[in-house]
Amino acid sequence: MADSETLHSDSNSRGIAADLARAADALETMQASGELAPVVTVAPASPNVPPALFGAGGPMLKRFDESTVASRKGSTAPSPPPSVKGIGKKVAKPDYSEQKIVVAMVGLPARGKSYLSNKLMIYLRWLEYDVKVFNVGQLRRTKARQKAQKLGVKENHNAEFFSHSNAQATQSRDSLAEESLEMLIKWLKEGGNVGIHDATNSTKSRRAKIEARLAKEKGMILIFLESLCDDPAVIAANVELKVSQGDPDYKDMSPDEARKDFLRRINEYEKVYETITEPHLSYLRIKNVGEEVTMSRINGYLSSRIAFYLMNLHIRPRNIFFSRHGESQYNVEGKIGGDSLLSLRGMQYAKALPALITDNIGEKPLTVWTSTLKRTIQTAQYLPYTKLTWKSLDELDAGVCDGMTYEEIEQAYPDDYANRDEDKFNYRYRGGESYRDVVVRLEPVIMELERQENILIIGHQAILRCLYAYFHHLPQADLPYIKIPLHTVIKLTPKAYGCDEERYTLPINAVDTHRPKPKAAKQPNVHPTTQRIYYVEEEVKTSA
Ligand code: F6P
Repeated sequence: MADSETLHSDSNSRGIAADLARAADALETMQASGELAPVVTVAPASPNVPPALFGAGGPMLKRFDESTVASRKGSTAPSPPPSVKGIGKKVAKPDYSEQKIVVAMVGLPARGKSYLSNKLMIYLRWLEYDVKVFNVGQLRRTKARQKAQKLGVKENHNAEFFSHSNAQATQSRDSLAEESLEMLIKWLKEGGNVGIHDATNSTKSRRAKIEARLAKEKGMILIFLESLCDDPAVIAANVELKVSQGDPDYKDMSPDEARKDFLRRINEYEKVYETITEPHLSYLRIKNVGEEVTMSRINGYLSSRIAFYLMNLHIRPRNIFFSRHGESQYNVEGKIGGDSLLSLRGMQYAKALPALITDNIGEKPLTVWTSTLKRTIQTAQYLPYTKLTWKSLDELDAGVCDGMTYEEIEQAYPDDYANRDEDKFNYRYRGGESYRDVVVRLEPVIMELERQENILIIGHQAILRCLYAYFHHLPQADLPYIKIPLHTVIKLTPKAYGCDEERYTLPINAVDTHRPKPKAAKQPNVHPTTQRIYYVEEEVKTSA
């Protein structure tokens, strides 16, 4: 069938070939005149990081990039075929309803259990699984607060409360852990996918109870996740975090008293702690986050994915920098997509960027990741660091709208334009992508980012929105409206419960490509937090 779409794509691909040839000539001329430095592709820089197989720098990625580098359309606006009425559609979230996993944490206090729980939750939520952490400490504090408020009874949760020779307190802690597990099971039955039981679960008998309880439920997979840590510096940092971040358990103590009490609490747990040796259990044991991982009886897609993610985490201090490419010729013309070169102001940004980055990072090693599109490669050209190109970092593919302005799209396809505004995350351009599609293709990038140390990503508006939403744990509906302006470097510093952020805007003018959500009463609320949450958010029963 020689329909209009085929004809359109044939004539379009001739145009694309001509465009690519023109762009290649331009790049060659720039390279010859020294304007454009050659791209260096080498293996990961950090001596601490093992070479990647699939990620940036890995043999799989390089082959993929080389074979697909010319797949993006050229820089002419395709005129939409007149027979095409609807150009794209909203694509529903994949059905994950059959996935039911309980991840039960195991570990002494101050061993990073809540850190791992939180990271795992954020990662899986970014991929749109329904995930919730059931933290027994939060439940304990919430109930104690309710008792104090309603009954005037004040419970003391000092180290004595955590002693296993204190029978009454032990019973109280056991029943809190059971209640938290019941809340988790109920939530899974109501539609949740992954419930994380954030407790010490530090004895064989406690784990056996969890196992027995879950055996009564159909289709729920149980994985234990043990966090071991024998690095005194990490333990000390975790203790300090506990003492300094306003933990309500220590609100009536001086920092020194709090520190001593918390160390005594750890000691009470150490007396009875049993590392996982039960051979029949499914478990993952992580030592010093990222140093050593033991895995046993992990089967199935989602469980393996969880394990793979956790294996890639580390807690060494580092920075992640995001910058969009410098202003491009398409940005100036108001066109989306394409593979145009930088504008003059974009080139100025590329020239100014190295000083900003080197001032910030000093002598520390850094690796620069770009997409395969010319505007990011050009922006990175003067940076004196190892550079890697990722096909997965290419801008959201606007399909048949590639190369058009928003006004042209609105005129040609008013219904689709309205649909996209209504549900931008789920809207997929015809022949192109939705934000969800982009999140899926960025998953290996996240995996590799977690493994690496200092990284600068020179990316695109939609791409950086997706990555930024992961690091700040922002909801899918807000993600497509996050402001990532041109000529601005965003510096993220990962912390225990989120990321600190600084933004540096260079004084080089650029167009504003951000389209706010039209007619929206409420613009997205982008307020990242690094604060630990100490209480259960929903209502809990007062009884226990
Ligand atoms: O306008 C620049 C750009 O990077 C386009 O290439 C891309 O289609 C667009 O931003 C993505 O932003 P939005 O999803 O808001 O249209």
